[in-house]
Amino acid sequence: MSKLTLDRILQQQGFGTRKWCQALVADGDVTIDGTVMNDLKSTFETEGLPLAVMGETWICRTHIYAVLHKPADYECSRKPSHHPGVHTLLPDQFIRRDVQPVGRLDHDTTGMLLLSDDGRFIHTQSSPKHHVPKVYVATTHDPVTPQLIELLLNGVKLHDEPAPLAAETCKILDEHHLEIVLEQGKYHQVKRMLAAAGNHCSALHRAQIGNLKLSDLNLAEGEWCYLEESQLAQLAPPFTI
Ligand code: URA
Repeated sequence: MSKLTLDRILQQQGFGTRKWCQALVADGDVTIDGTVMNDLKSTFETEGLPLAVMGETWICRTHIYAVLHKPADYECSRKPSHHPGVHTLLPDQFIRRDVQPVGRLDHDTTGMLLLSDDGRFIHTQSSPKHHVPKVYVATTHDPVTPQLIELLLNGVKLHDEPAPLAAETCKILDEHHLEIVLEQGKYHQVKRMLAAAGNHCSALHRAQIGNLKLSDLNLAEGEWCYLEESQLAQLAPPFTI
């Protein structure tokens, strides 16, 4: 990997314009292991470089792979219309680096949302070709019955879809909760499938993508974390950096 000057590294990491980042370095606002780095000519490997920028600790990453535990009442859109955007829950550096949600969750859906600035990752995780299994827990208005599960497994017809859509797996959790696994990500798919099967989804939570479980990440609603290599390998298809 090629080495870069600190101002370029800071710009790539999302600390601001080149000029602003040059000023940060020249003013002595950047330290490495407690030593001020105000030389604009020295070069460094980016990946893993431990910086402190105006006192904020920052480990440099070439790309960002992260998970947010999305709360209800946040929109995934860059230009949200009725609720704050999920980007308001992320560091400013992520916004400047154009970190985006991988796919979308409805504003009232909670749970696991992948985030990245790596086009290759966003593409493989959101392409219908890759059949990424996603596990949802749906709360239903009416009791969950074996007939409902049967319908969802056999496939239900949604009015703008040419062929019936079926769950990969589906099981009763309790009287008003079911777990449904989908490999497609059509608009409002779980809610529309439940409605087509004669029930109503009153709340929805995404609990797992591939083999990676949100519950293993210990994130409260609104919190995010980076995904490390072993966790990226649990996605489907496994992702290697
Ligand atoms: N299906 C839905 O209906 N909504 C989501 O947010 C995700 C899947």
